Amino acid sequence: MVRIPVFRLLGLTGVSRVSLLEGSGSRHYSSGSLGARDAICDARAYFTTPIFYVNAAPHIGHLYSALLADALCRHRRLRVPSPAATRFSTGTDEHGLKIQQAAASAGLAPTELCDRVSAQFQQLFQEAGISFTDFIRTTEARHRVAVQHFWGVLKARGLLYKGLYEGWYCASDECFLPEARVTWQLGPSGDSCPVSVESGHPVSWTKEENYIFRLSQFREPLQRWLRGNPQAITPEPFHHAVLQWLEDELPDLSVSRRSSHLHWGIPVPGDDSQTIYVWLDALVNYLTVIGYPSAEFKSWWPATSHIIGKDILKFHAIYWPALLLGAGMSPPHRIYVHSHWTVCGQKMSKSLGNVVDPKTCLDRYTVDGFRYFLLRQGVPNWDCDYYDEKVVKLLDSELADALGGLLNRCTANRINPSGTYPSFCTTCFPSEPGLLGPPVRAQAEDYALVSAVATLPKQVADHYDNFQIYKALEALSSCVRQTNGFVQRHAPWKLNWESPVDAPWLGTVLHVALECLRVFGTLLQPVTPSLADKLLSRLGVSATERGLGELYFLPRFYGHPCPFEGRKLGPETGLLFPRLDQSRAWLVKAHRT
Ligand code: MSP
Repeated sequence: MVRIPVFRLLGLTGVSRVSLLEGSGSRHYSSGSLGARDAICDARAYFTTPIFYVNAAPHIGHLYSALLADALCRHRRLRVPSPAATRFSTGTDEHGLKIQQAAASAGLAPTELCDRVSAQFQQLFQEAGISFTDFIRTTEARHRVAVQHFWGVLKARGLLYKGLYEGWYCASDECFLPEARVTWQLGPSGDSCPVSVESGHPVSWTKEENYIFRLSQFREPLQRWLRGNPQAITPEPFHHAVLQWLEDELPDLSVSRRSSHLHWGIPVPGDDSQTIYVWLDALVNYLTVIGYPSAEFKSWWPATSHIIGKDILKFHAIYWPALLLGAGMSPPHRIYVHSHWTVCGQKMSKSLGNVVDPKTCLDRYTVDGFRYFLLRQGVPNWDCDYYDEKVVKLLDSELADALGGLLNRCTANRINPSGTYPSFCTTCFPSEPGLLGPPVRAQAEDYALVSAVATLPKQVADHYDNFQIYKALEALSSCVRQTNGFVQRHAPWKLNWESPVDAPWLGTVLHVALECLRVFGTLLQPVTPSLADKLLSRLGVSATERGLGELYFLPRFYGHPCPFEGRKLGPETGLLFPRLDQSRAWLVKAHRT
């Protein structure tokens, strides 16, 4: 069913524009809706998270990867609500030497370890509201079929050959390293040990006959792809970094290991003595999910956005596109890259004992609170540091005080005794401030607020597109502050509903603030789904009025009817976001020491 925005039903234009005089210049304002589902219309979009290793329990870094993908995906669903238009996959990466060794040292069969940890990821993601449509495990039969088929295509196209491969191998990172990327460090027993420069993980010398992929043939095609698609890898510094890497020679890549050494994986078709390299196996998950090798995958590929951490950029931006080109397919449309979370200035690691458990955080700060924190504070371009006090401070100030306080101020019985969305008075707040003077009550700052909130949905959409979700939340938070300033300035609690002079202006102040809150609630849905639902329900906004295509801010100001005016507010359901009060903050500190 095609849903038509209210204004189109009324025969009005999708995005209303009015001219406002402010200061000396004339400016154009829009009502804030993203309007027609124009550019993206009903095209399909497929979002993916990396699939997670099952050698250890999930930590907040893993949750962050999944949350970024979830927020992008939920934002897209607000623009294109058809469930058939968006797909979102996540899952677990269960093969390889790393898992084989982790299972052995835990005294478990690999399948036992995989079942246990994969279930932990699924549980965590469900609890955190990750709205995936597919969860894949690389140990599933459908995946083995896809990987072996993909292998067969590369083989048939002459891109695999057998040869002697010699070099450093890092089991933790599951990759070969050139000599220049290896350094020597003192190990636990005081001996000097070779480690990866990037990750610091131990490496060992490997010499084997393997199947090798002709990666070197793809250097120029990859350069052409990246130069022709400047948005392929976002944010830009990562795009630039990959082009820099491609300035150097691109050696061929070993894509199998001896089965006697690595038995936990998918066998090379027709050669049981070799197991397929875990990264080739893992990357193909993105195709397995959409039905590869059956032709149905073509309706989702390459309309794909991969969300990944910076540590796995080389695999996604060089190996994967080269493998795809080799198999006669296009590289993915977008690769969104994020940086890492550190804890009190240090890398998170089991050996340092500083791994932050995401479940504890979700319990302590609520699902919406912790989602908001990670997405508001996580900056894709550089690493972010985690500590508990930061969470308490941010959530108390932005969700409890600023947003919750604003909602409370506009809906509380003593200010809004009728419990309705009051009328907007165009005489008190005309769209042409040229008519300033009584009975006009709006001031220059109020026009600035209207302008800021009207342009917010577009700004937010641009930030999502540039993978700067924290900037979207920063802009939103600044508008919340501005709205609180507006309410403070006009002090509706000092105005009297009984006075014929005050009442229209009092209604207008509340109407504008509620309209701002409606925009905030709508835009917060991808980040804090339950809190946004609570907010919108309190405003009386129905489920069909929450999309971005329907988001027409303050229509009365622009001369259009407002469907909310006079409507009963939703039931009062308590504080929007209770403060994480002093005692809880104290408990948090106690927990850390
Ligand atoms: N299994 C591979 C991915 C294969 S995708 C075809 C892998 N798994 S992982 O479990 O190690 O990492 C999964 C994701 O978590 C990656 O995007 C990685 O960057 C991210 N993070 C791991 N530690 C992180 C932080 N400390 N902070 C933020 N994200 C982090 O790599």
